[in-house]
Amino acid sequence: MIDSYPLLRPWLFSLDPEQAHNLTLSNLDRAERWGLLRCLVEQPTPDPRKVCGITFPNPVGLAAGLDKDGKHIDALGSLGFGFLEIGTVTPKPQPGNPKPRMFRLPQAQAIINRMGFNNDGVEACVKRVRNSAYWQNGGIVGLNIGKNASTPIENAASDYVTAMEAVYEVASYITVNISSPNTQNLRALQGEDMLRSLLGSLHLAREALSDLHGTRKPLFLKIAPDLDQNDIKLIADLLLEFKIDAIIATNTTIARDAVQGLEFGEETGGLSGAPVRTASTEVVKSLKMYLGDAIPIIGVGGILSGGDAQEKVDAGASLVQLYSGLIYRGPKLIAECASTLRK
Ligand code: FNR
Repeated sequence: MIDSYPLLRPWLFSLDPEQAHNLTLSNLDRAERWGLLRCLVEQPTPDPRKVCGITFPNPVGLAAGLDKDGKHIDALGSLGFGFLEIGTVTPKPQPGNPKPRMFRLPQAQAIINRMGFNNDGVEACVKRVRNSAYWQNGGIVGLNIGKNASTPIENAASDYVTAMEAVYEVASYITVNISSPNTQNLRALQGEDMLRSLLGSLHLAREALSDLHGTRKPLFLKIAPDLDQNDIKLIADLLLEFKIDAIIATNTTIARDAVQGLEFGEETGGLSGAPVRTASTEVVKSLKMYLGDAIPIIGVGGILSGGDAQEKVDAGASLVQLYSGLIYRGPKLIAECASTLRK
């Protein structure tokens, strides 16, 4: 199959990153409506993996943030992913940070973003998920939830519970995102007292929702790469205590050593792509050391090749997710990762 992305990339990279993002997704939607996408993009050989009671058709998923509102589910579902994570969505709609808020650092194969959870609000997203053919046909859709910027951090739990209630019915799993650097104080939720209180509230809310809906939806926690061993150990203990089902490691980093001196290297936000790879893998390794086989790990951060995906699995991940690698490598990366992990 011909990979046209290397030909398109220079043109896309000549556009503003957010504009290129929107244009790419609207063209993918069009190709999907015309029934072309599955013919144009290599589809991975099925390689089912059972994690948290869900059978994933292959272990390569879309990371959160690329389709924050669930506007492109059918197109993205035709690219060969084993699962899609939609969001981050917040209870109320919010505009996010002023533009520009997304930057490419091609020499480092990296992105810096400070989007700030721009989204249409959880209700609009849930409607779109429900209306997607992908979801209706049993495709796996994780819903990643966050808090509104206007909600004081002391009331964060109430936002997460509201969002969890709203997504519960449609979500294959729910991810609690406490690791974005672009919402003030959000990452403080990773500290012991705040995390204990948040996970306590979510645990109770999930029990109530399980009874109400007659089904227990898996709850995942997504953490940052900028944590030391003590932080990671503490988080691992709390995951076990509050029966969290899986952990996603990691979100973007606030570290900048790998991009010093590069254009946009000093922009505020979260750095993703190749520079976060090693830090993310180290977090996966530490989690594996503390958790063993008790709680599955989803590895994300800097996967730009099949070998990088294998590195996450070798470190202890059961599934992987991609975002920045898609910008640098195009959709071919999905089948490449799936093929490497199948061997
Ligand atoms: C993200 N990421 C992200 N994560 C999340 O949990 N909620 C979100 O809304 C977003 N938004 C977002 C926007 C942009 C532009 C990027 C590049 C990333 C983080 C993403 O899911 C992933 O964890 C990191 O980017 C690391 O993986 P990659 O990009 O190196 O494969």
